[in-house]
Formats: sequence, structure tokens, C-alpha cells
Amino acid sequence: MTSLQPNAVAPPSSEPSQSPPSKVTLSLGHLPKKQDIKGPWPRTPSRVDPNNPPWPAYRGYHEYSFAHATMGVRLPTILGKAIEDTMKTLNEQSSEEQVTDLLACIERMDGLMTDLSGNAKLRPIIDDAEADVALWNKAIAKYFQGKDFMSAPWLFAEAYKYRRLREAFSVSKYWKDYDVFFRQKCDTFSRSADAVFELSMRFAEPFKHSGNLSDAEKLEAERLMFLELTQICLWGNSTDLSLLINMTEEQIKSLQSTGGDHLAATEKNILGNHLPQLWETVKELRAKTGGRIDFVLDNAGFELYCDCVYADFLIQSGLAKQIRFHGKRYPWFVSDVTKKDWEWLLNTMVYGYLFPKATEQERESLRRMGVRWKQYEKEGKWVYEQHPFWCTGYTFWELHGEAPDLFLHLSRSDLVIFKGDLNHRKLTYDCAAPASTPFDVAIGPMANAAGAPKVCSMRTIKSDVVVGLESDELAERLDGEEPGWKISGKYAVVLLSEGRPGEKVRFA
Ligand code: F6P
Ligand code: MG
Repeated sequence: MTSLQPNAVAPPSSEPSQSPPSKVTLSLGHLPKKQDIKGPWPRTPSRVDPNNPPWPAYRGYHEYSFAHATMGVRLPTILGKAIEDTMKTLNEQSSEEQVTDLLACIERMDGLMTDLSGNAKLRPIIDDAEADVALWNKAIAKYFQGKDFMSAPWLFAEAYKYRRLREAFSVSKYWKDYDVFFRQKCDTFSRSADAVFELSMRFAEPFKHSGNLSDAEKLEAERLMFLELTQICLWGNSTDLSLLINMTEEQIKSLQSTGGDHLAATEKNILGNHLPQLWETVKELRAKTGGRIDFVLDNAGFELYCDCVYADFLIQSGLAKQIRFHGKRYPWFVSDVTKKDWEWLLNTMVYGYLFPKATEQERESLRRMGVRWKQYEKEGKWVYEQHPFWCTGYTFWELHGEAPDLFLHLSRSDLVIFKGDLNHRKLTYDCAAPASTPFDVAIGPMANAAGAPKVCSMRTIKSDVVVGLESDELAERLDGEEPGWKISGKYAVVLLSEGRPGEKVRFA
């Protein structure tokens, strides 16, 4: 059986040739300084493809980027924990057929560990009847032939690891839908009691205006509530399991603190802040008797709960008449929402006994909210969807071309909110764009294709790519003063692109 210890992986070649450099020493004194050289970036759109993003890709062998630590250490650690979880399940089985079937899954995970630690080449995905097999294998054949875990762009290689993990189970007989991260995901919610009840006690009662407020006062009250809930939804993203599995309950609590003062203080950590424009956008929706807002979800448990509290307000206030939630078809990047996580949350709120220390009043507040949310589902005001494209290694620059049905579907939305770090990486092609790059430039076709919807990215910063800041200097100052600021989750962006809504969507 493979050791659970990650191995360091040797860095391969550098951008853009990607063939291993030979070890020669040159005297480069006569050349201009590195910072004086202006690269040919961004690439012209016709030369952009998944292996050649508009700005240089992050790859596992880039020791300066989070890609290196993730590919070399974090992913093997996460996989090791997944193997441990599956062994726990194995020990709980009695049927020989199911035990041996699960053992074969563990052996396949061991094989993946060997590939990951040994920096193997990316092989095609086995046909396990998932809807995304063709999309995966087309990308591998077209753009990543001969690429390995460290030399393929980080985004693709990391996503590929989760797809291979899926394959370890999907080819089995009894364990196709086994979720190695499910226990951990449920845990984040049950370990978040204080924040969970702080929200349920405030928002269990349907939102209504107090007293005899004038229309202007009502609007102002609504604006403030919107801004507060947007921040709650945003910071719910800082508790993502793939980074925080070793956090103490105290640390989780301080990250999840939802009080008003705390939120005022944290607004200054939103480095690219389009909150005022976002409010203008949703306010206009009510004029059309409420719009359709889509959430491309990120993490299950506490973050999903915050998303739902926000979505609940959008419905109650009449700003939206329908919310469509987009989740993943199978376990993804440890904590992302699957249908099972979605159902678990709503049902545990209504029927569960997760919080032994809760008061009767607290339990009732959670139950009432859960009942209301389930009712929204029955009435079609909330809809849960799971398109196969979300579990691919493609960025959203390719959404228009690779998933035209999804693009068309999203183009009919009044606002598409992308939650979290991974979605932000996918929107921006996960490449080294200057921090001052305007958001709508960074997201390419998701902003400039005919019919592109309004897009908002709500993301706490947990990886290298940062765009939408007022200046490059801000990022440079933080680089100097706070090393690690790009992975701490302490800073965030809320960025909006106006898109080209209403125009006819066209596919070449
Ligand atoms: O492994 C790195 C990563 O993919 C980063 O995007 C981020 O650190 C984390 O995993 C996922 O974050 P989120 O759940 O916010 O997408
Ligand atoms: Mg996630």
C-alpha cells in the first residue's frame, strides 16, 4: 500500500516551451533587468487555449506559487485522508462482495497516489459512464499530451486529480456514489454552531420593514441589509475545508464571526469592491418584478448555509423571484456542494439533532428556516442543478465553446454569482494577470461574448490569481508586507461584470 506521506516532485520546464532546460551557466549581465522586459502578454485571443492562457499559467513546478505546495504536498495529504476515510468505511462493512469491491477502490486510490507523488503523465479518464468523460479526454488529447501533474497548468492538473478520485469509485459495483469527503463536510456545519444560530435567530422570521417607514427609508434599510448579507455570503467562503482541515473550533469561530461591527471592519479587506454596483444591479431587478439570480456554488456546510440565508433574503425582499443553484455532480475539491450535501443541509435543519447544546428556541429557528427553504424548492423558487461542465478542468473562458447549452442557459439569468476561489480561478483562466487587470478583461468571453450575463465573483482570496484591484502597487505592497496574503482567506474581492445581456447568443 502507498505511504500517505507526500513526496516532493522535481520541477519540470518553464513557460512557454515546457521542455526541461539543460543545466548551463550563462553570463547575463548585458541583458536588461527582468522587470524591464515586457512579455508578449496578454496573448491574443486566437492564441489562447487551455495550455496557453492569456497570461502565463501557474504550474506545479513554479516554486513561487501556491501551485507548487498544492501539487507537491496538499493534494497528496488530501488523498491520504480520503484513503483513511475509505478504510474506516471498509471496517464497518460485513458483506464480502461489498468489502472486496471497496478494497478495489482503495487500490485505485493508491494507484492515484503513486501517479501524483511520482509526477506521472496525465492519462485519459476511463469510460465510467459519467457525462463528462468525453470533455475530459478531449482536453487531454488536444492540449495536454505528454503533460504530467507538475507541468500541466495547475488548474487542470488539480481538477484532474479530483476526477481520477471519482473514477476510483465510479467504476466499482457498489460504491459508485461514495463521497470520501462527506463526513468532513457535515462536520464543518456541526462545528459552526455559534454562527449557525446567530444567523437563524436573526433570519428565521421572514424579512419585513418595521413601523411606518417612507419608501426612501425602506429602500435604505433594504440596501443595508443587502450589503450585510452579501458580506455574510462572501466571508462564508473563508471556511473551505481543503485549506482548513486542521483548524481549531476557536479559529473557525473567529473566521465565521457575523456581527455587524465585524462586517464593517472586514469591508476594508475587500480589495476589489463592486458592492455598490451590485446593489444597483439587484435593485433594478425588482423594477422587473424580481429577476432570476444564479449561484454557481462553492462549498457545502457552513458556506452553503450562508448562501441560502442570502438567497432567502433576495426572494423575500422581491429582488429575485427565482434562484437557481448550480452544484457539482460528484465530490470535488474536498468541500464543494453536491446534491447529497444540498439535501443533507435542508433535511438536517428540519429533522436533525446536530447541535446537542442548542436551546429549544435556537433549534426551532433553524427548523423554521429549513421548512421555508424546502417550500421554495417545491414552488420552483429555488432550483438545484448540476451541469457536467462544472466538474471539468476547463476554465470558464471555454464555457461558451465547450458547454454552449450551459452558456445559453446562463445568458437568460439576470445575474450569475460565482462563489469562491476555484470559480474565480476558472473565471480568470488562473494565470498571472496583473492585479490591476479589469475584471471584465480578465474573464474574457464570460464578459464579452454576445449574450454574456452580468457576472459577479464573490471570493475570499486563497490562491495566486488576483485581478480587479485599483492598482498593481496595492498587490506589490501586500507582497512585501504580508507574505501569504494571497492564500490566507483574509482578503476578498466582490467584482461585477456588466456582460452583454439581452444580445442574441451566437456560436461560431
Ligand atoms: O487547492 C487550491 C484551491 O483550488 C484554491 O482554489 C483554494 O485554495 C481551494 O483549493 C478551494 O477554495 P474554494 O473552496 O474557495 O474554491
Ligand atoms: Mg470549494
